[in-house]
Amino acid sequence: MTEFDLVLHGATGFTGQLAAKEIARTADSGLRWAISGRSEPKLQALGGQLGATSIVTDSTDPAACERLVARTRVVLSCAGPYQLYGTPLLAACAASGTHYADLSGELGWMWEMIQSHDAIARRTGAALLPASGFDSVPSDLAVLTLVRELQQKNLPVNDLAGFYRLKGGLNGGTLATGIAQSTRYEPEDLAHPFLLDPDPQQSWEYRAQPPSRKETFSIPALNGYAAPFIMAPVNERVIRRSAALSDAAGRSYGNDFSYSEFMRTSDLNKAKQIAFGMKVGDWALRKPLGRKIMQRFGPTPGTGPSEQTRTNGFVELTVLAGNLAQPDARVDWFFPGDPGNTVTVRCLAQIGLALCAGEARDAGLLTPAHALGERLVERLRERDALLDTF
Ligand SMILES: NC(=O)c1ccc[n+]([C@@H]2O[C@H](COP(=O)([O-])OP(=O)(O)OC[C@H]3O[C@@H](n4cnc5c(N)ncnc54)[C@H](OP(=O)(O)O)[C@@H]3O)[C@@H](O)[C@H]2O)c1
Repeated sequence: MTEFDLVLHGATGFTGQLAAKEIARTADSGLRWAISGRSEPKLQALGGQLGATSIVTDSTDPAACERLVARTRVVLSCAGPYQLYGTPLLAACAASGTHYADLSGELGWMWEMIQSHDAIARRTGAALLPASGFDSVPSDLAVLTLVRELQQKNLPVNDLAGFYRLKGGLNGGTLATGIAQSTRYEPEDLAHPFLLDPDPQQSWEYRAQPPSRKETFSIPALNGYAAPFIMAPVNERVIRRSAALSDAAGRSYGNDFSYSEFMRTSDLNKAKQIAFGMKVGDWALRKPLGRKIMQRFGPTPGTGPSEQTRTNGFVELTVLAGNLAQPDARVDWFFPGDPGNTVTVRCLAQIGLALCAGEARDAGLLTPAHALGERLVERLRERDALLDTF
């Protein structure tokens, strides 16, 4: 038996501290858990507040990661950018059969981890879950829920489209991650629509693709307009991986399944402004000068939005199936709190507790919906982290 059920690594960062408090608030008193990070004084200060054991671990040191992983059944990691600090810890979990989840929305790094650690984790029994924060839990679970409803009602499962309204703030760690990814990969490297599928080329040939749409367009069923969404490239690819893994596990989403994702606004001008802002941001991330300006004037790692911004934030997500004027079915979900912190740490904490409770249905490098399915939706509902209405 291991010493701990769960270790939260990167616990002293902005989301890490919030995740530690969320675990302390929602876990059963019997959970044996510890916090981990590279800074002993910071760990001791946080551990003292929460009554949690501290373990000093530099996540760029593979031997230290192996020692950490040997002491626990489940690891949650908030130490990102993951392409800089994440690989040794994920690798140690894969090799030892220890379940793992993180907040990565880094497409390039996720692709690399699938290539190098998926097969190992399948052999050892580890469930490895990147994308266990705001990206991509709400989208992944909402799509799963809608697919199952359509299947139960014998309705076609085709052309699912997700629409977000959001309020919140930006973390320095998230900006650092965007900059790290743009430095390492060209957008073209990550553009394959089935990048995260087990066999992207086969999926490209045989799986349905969403209809091509203009940059902005009207959504009659929502009385609003759609604009590009910054997290869509990640969420869409994670969800396509969920569909591919579910096929292999005999819980198929169907041959006609496709998914695309957008922001939602009330008027066309706002949609056009969002589209323009996205182009400017994208351009700035591609250029060394743009990245320097963002680093100079954006939030620094370790910082994030105020408590008031986090409390007043929200996530509204609607997923429609079929026609945008008269959809066959829809999911309308509300997540209280700001996306990058409150919603993120609630998702991560429940995933950690679900993994501790033995709820993982598969092994390998997985997605939240494929690994934990409807039970994770219930967990979030039970804690009022997810409400079925706006
Ligand atoms: N999926 C989502 O929706 C979502 C939302 C929010 C954040 N994120 C991602 O989560 C990650 C963390 O974000 P954040 O805002 O919490 O960033 P942050 O405040 O900068 O925290 C980064 C953490 O990583 C730790 N760290 C850095 N290098 C390390 C090393 N070598 N060994 C051990 N620990 C190390 C830092 O330790 P120190 O405390 O000692 O500096 C800190 O605890 C980022 O990659 C971000 O993109 C994702």
